[in-house]
Amino acid sequence: MKYLMLGGAGFVGLALSTRLMNDGHEVIIVDDLSTSNPHTPPPAHNTIRSSVQQCPELDGLVAWADVVYFLAGSVGVKYVVEHPYETMMNNLSLISAVVPLLHKHNKYVIFTSTSEVYGQGPYSEDDNISIAPPTNTRWGYASAKAATEFAIASAGCRYKILRLFNVTGPGQVGTHGMVLPRFIGAALAGKDIEVYGTGEQRRSFCHIADAVEIILEVERLPGSNIFNVGSALPANSVSILDVAHVVKDVLQSSSQTVLKPFDDVFVRNSGDIADRVPDLRKLHSHITYIPKKTLRDIIQDIANDTLTH
Ligand SMILES: NC(=O)c1ccc[n+]([C@@H]2O[C@H](COP(=O)([O-])OP(=O)(O)OC[C@H]3O[C@@H](n4cnc5c(N)ncnc54)[C@H](O)[C@@H]3O)[C@@H](O)[C@H]2O)c1
Repeated sequence: MKYLMLGGAGFVGLALSTRLMNDGHEVIIVDDLSTSNPHTPPPAHNTIRSSVQQCPELDGLVAWADVVYFLAGSVGVKYVVEHPYETMMNNLSLISAVVPLLHKHNKYVIFTSTSEVYGQGPYSEDDNISIAPPTNTRWGYASAKAATEFAIASAGCRYKILRLFNVTGPGQVGTHGMVLPRFIGAALAGKDIEVYGTGEQRRSFCHIADAVEIILEVERLPGSNIFNVGSALPANSVSILDVAHVVKDVLQSSSQTVLKPFDDVFVRNSGDIADRVPDLRKLHSHITYIPKKTLRDIIQDIANDTLTH
């Protein structure tokens, strides 16, 4: 099969692209490398280094592909909160660059949306999405993702919309606010592990290796649909304070855990989500794969990867 991977040099995109290439598929990546990991560059002969919006070959590439993975976008709570305008302009202009071509060529698209579209929840695919007022610019990311979901759903082409819940693992960078690489980097360096807010907010972590299996199985499902993507392992749904504790335990680190008020770290009143644990009943009624990697596996794999770079 022929795959066009928009944003395919990023953390999720590179894991998917590598797997697809290993399985013998033809893969072309378009990525401007703006937030990809500099230690794991994508294969040069498969990659067009360009923004999706400025890529002159985009029309022909969409026509060529059997499946278009739409992964490109400005991501990471820290980046989004610090650069709300750039996030909106990038993510909204991606809609007008990509969706008309999907419509024109009637292409099958897999779009990576986010759990943030649910706001404070509940978190099942048929629930209403929820966006706070634009005075809180953090929600621009979710609103642009929601707009992309609607644009894709109205374009008349086949689609899968995937709402990812904390997909993490080796290769993810901590620079843009991703919690596990940040905690693990601090623990390995013997620095304080900074927990933002009360630390009681709960998250559910899914290893990238499990996410790749889930996504590829969802891609093979017939028709169009929306799915949450995350891990159903109970031990992977924990408070952020517990994450810090498990990181210290797995890595035998003597780092201290320190609480920092959310407003001291990010723009004032950007807020955080109390409990973000996916409802995976719909996903598991459609696929057979069961995530296997525990939080401890994820931490160990990120640490091993960090130590080799
Ligand atoms: N990792 C997660 O847990 C998670 C959670 C929710 C949503 N997502 C979504 O999944 C997708 C992949 O996320 P990720 O974790 O791999 O992040 P990432 O930052 O590693 O990947 C995004 C990639 O898109 C590229 N990019 C951004 N804007 C671009 C543009 N205009 N043109 C070309 N390339 C561009 C970046 O360079 C990067 O390689 C994103 O759309 C993100 O919103 C991820």
